Amino acid sequence: MGNKAELHYDGEVYELPVITGTENENALDISKLRGQSGLITLDRGFKNTGSCKSSITFLNGEEGILRYRGYSIEELAEKSTFLEVAFLLIYSELPTKEELDNFVNEISTHSLVHEDVKSILDGFPSKSHPMGVLSSLVSSLTAFYPKSLDPNRSKEEINGTIIRAIAKLPTLAAWSFKNRMRQPVIYPDNQLGYCENFIRMMFSLPTVAYEVNPVIADALDKLLILHADHEQNCSTSTVRIVGSSHASLYTSVSSGIAALWGPLHGGANQAVIEMLEEIKEDGGDIDKYVAKAKDKSDPFRLMGFGHRVYKNFDPRATIIKKAADDVLDELGINDPVLDIAKKLEKVALNDTYFKERGLYPNVDFYSGIIYRALGIPTDMFTVMFALGRLPGWIAQWKEMRENHEPIGRPRQVYTGSSARQYVSIENR
Ligand code: CMC
Repeated sequence: MGNKAELHYDGEVYELPVITGTENENALDISKLRGQSGLITLDRGFKNTGSCKSSITFLNGEEGILRYRGYSIEELAEKSTFLEVAFLLIYSELPTKEELDNFVNEISTHSLVHEDVKSILDGFPSKSHPMGVLSSLVSSLTAFYPKSLDPNRSKEEINGTIIRAIAKLPTLAAWSFKNRMRQPVIYPDNQLGYCENFIRMMFSLPTVAYEVNPVIADALDKLLILHADHEQNCSTSTVRIVGSSHASLYTSVSSGIAALWGPLHGGANQAVIEMLEEIKEDGGDIDKYVAKAKDKSDPFRLMGFGHRVYKNFDPRATIIKKAADDVLDELGINDPVLDIAKKLEKVALNDTYFKERGLYPNVDFYSGIIYRALGIPTDMFTVMFALGRLPGWIAQWKEMRENHEPIGRPRQVYTGSSARQYVSIENR
């Protein structure tokens, strides 16, 4: 039968090509099935559906493997930097020294945003969640760079749009925080590294001298690497599907930020800390919360637990757990919430409910603890995730454009009324 599968349906046999990826994962190609048989496939939440071929990120959920362009996440987190990883994801190869220097230089040169962004920012009430502000500000970049609206422009122009996105996101993110604090915004300093610059824009005040703690900058850089891409997750699929209509990069990334915000996705890092704090306030009764998570009549879930793809462990969580210990140690912080997290993890990992369902701590279980130790406020956690995920969104958007992918447009199984006659309002 070779690389084909057979589907027997209604007395007919249909041959479906089997596509094999470079890591030997197999997929049925059903793209012609409807034309041949009238059948579509149904897969709510795309739990078993590949939406594209991609050469960016490889993930094996059973074995806990995550690689960017073939390089393991463990090695990249240990030896690389966030901007080097961004280059790798976007341009497919690790940069030479000269390529990296140029890339870093270009990014620091473009980190300033137009003064008028401040007037947009001023329009947001101080209680605005920074994720909503960030998504809006990224979308507003289309107004300042109208040529970016056309994704069919030259390679150089598209690259300029990409560089501006990476350069300006930390400024927009830090300014969304300053807006919430009703503090004056801090302009970027292009003599500083990517993370140092961001930390300075977040925490310094115009009148007070500020030194960036290198422990904080290094920890942040590592966290951003761990979040940089994760193949076809909810926000990345959103970026690709929005971009597939030939919407601009900024619009697509803005939609990605909106998708990331939800607590089942990137918003989980905020939800985890809120949950751990609630457990602490409630007397630290871990068994009570584990029981609640198992109770199907209770909507409560253990935030930071479970993953659509990882069913044994999340390799990012392993790295983050160690980093959380190291950062708290180096900064001399004793966070009781970390003890609750560790106890909760232990109880859940030994519980049949979690074992049977393959529910393990995910990347967000410990990331919030590090962000807190770095002084980042809770509602900025998901913004940090967005900063990290940006190169992945860009790489995926670029790949989708370069592969000339068709517009994303799923089908459905209709379950509503069949045709009926309109009834005028008097007769209803
Ligand atoms: N607590 C309790 N039960 C859970 C949890 C949890 N956190 N996660 C899944 N389950 C149960 C779920 O009730 C279901 O049980 P049953 O088979 O008896 O109906 C089973 O495990 C499978 O869950 P599912 O919801 O069908 O799995 P999914 O693949 O659709 O959802 C998930 C994956 C990540 C949305 C889910 O595990 C979850 O809600 N986790 C908490 C939120 C979270 O931490 N999200 C961050 C994910 S990592 C960051 C990122 O990349 O986005």
